Formats: sequence, structure tokens, C-alpha cells
Amino acid sequence: MIIFGHRGAPGYPRRGENTIASFRKALECGATGLEFDVRRCADGQLVVIHDDTIDRTTNGRGRVRSLNYAALCKFDAGFGSPIPLLADVLDEFGARCLLNIELKENGIADDVKKFVIERRLERHVILSSFEWQELASAVPEIPIGLLSSKLANIISAARDLRATAIHPHKDVVTPTLIETAREAGLQIHVWTVNDPAEMSKFRSLGADGIFTDFPERCSTPAS
Ligand code: G3P
Ligand code: CA
Repeated sequence: MIIFGHRGAPGYPRRGENTIASFRKALECGATGLEFDVRRCADGQLVVIHDDTIDRTTNGRGRVRSLNYAALCKFDAGFGSPIPLLADVLDEFGARCLLNIELKENGIADDVKKFVIERRLERHVILSSFEWQELASAVPEIPIGLLSSKLANIISAARDLRATAIHPHKDVVTPTLIETAREAGLQIHVWTVNDPAEMSKFRSLGADGIFTDFPERCSTPAS
């Protein structure tokens, strides 16, 4: 089972989220994958940040799309770490583990795909989004995962879009869903699982991966 550090290892104090330091910490703690969020800033560069503003996760204020990277990178996104560029994250971690790149806005899939292909990381990456159609142009070169907190249509949409995986919220995952996904040839990666008992449950049910803020809590070796 792949253990994705969700935004790195934000469960740890003093590490922030979606920072290089948080990603390093996640790998040190046993994560075998990293999940992170991508947006475009004012000068067109792709940056790794969850929210559409920098207010919650940095010491600054403002909208990501209104700030150039030269300004964005001056803010502290977690004990000295800046908001990283997608390129920096791919370059440091792309060959080391599986990267789940979540598209947090529309219209960036083609540029993300270009960055991945330029670095020959197609087999090290899975692109995901709640906006499933946004993923269509990544296929077939890059695997895609459909994110959802509901089950409606997810298996049929995954088939239609030639997805590799579904990424359901943990509260909607049942043994039947896992079996159905498996029959459809889909991997199933579950978010966000922080309780060790739930980690064990999803492992025994046969989930292919989980996203967690606390990768060190997955005490059993990844398989
Ligand atoms: O990819 C799973 C999870 O990251 C989706 O929700 O809000 O944490 O980006 P969120
Ligand atoms: Ca995410």
C-alpha cells in the first residue's frame, strides 16, 4: 500500500504544508509517495499551495493569482520554508517516490503535463483533480486519479476518462467499492486517513494507497 504524505507531513508541528521541508519530513517518516496541490501565480509560474490565497499557510496575505513568484517566495510557508515551485518539487522528489499532483484550478493540466514529460517522470506521477474533465488531456501519457467525496458515477467516469485510479474520501469507501474498482482495473487511493486503526482497515480491505498527514503512523512496512 502506498503511503502518500498529504501535503507532505503537516501533522508534524513546525513543518508547514506543501513545502520542501514538509516533503522531506514525510519521506523520512516512511511515506512512499507525496501528495501536493498546484496553482498558477500572477506571472504564470506553477506553485505548490493548497488555498487560492496565501493567508492561512504563510505570514503574508493576498491571492496566489495576483502575486508574482518573486513576491510569493518571500513569504514564510512554514518555519522558514517558502512556497515552492512545481519544478523544484519535481526536481528534488520526482525520482524518489510517487508524486500525486492535485490540480487546484482549471487550465493548468497541459503545463503540468509538459513539466512532467520534460523530466521523464510520467511513471512517477499521478495527476488528480475534483474537476475530472480537467484531467482528460493528461491521458494517455500520465496516469490520472479522479478525486471525489461522493461515489456517484466515479467508476463509469474513470472508465470513460481512461483513469488509472479513483481517489475517494475515506468516509465513502466500502469493501464493495474497493472490489468494484479492482474489477474495473482501477487503483484506489483513500484520503485523508490519520487514524492508525483506519490505516489498518484500508490496508486489509486492499486499498492501493492512502493519503495521510502522519506517515509515521503506518507502522507496517509499505507493500
Ligand atoms: O488528494 C486528497 C486530498 O488532498 C484532497 O483534498 O483539500 O486536502 O486537497 P485537499
Ligand atoms: Ca490535495
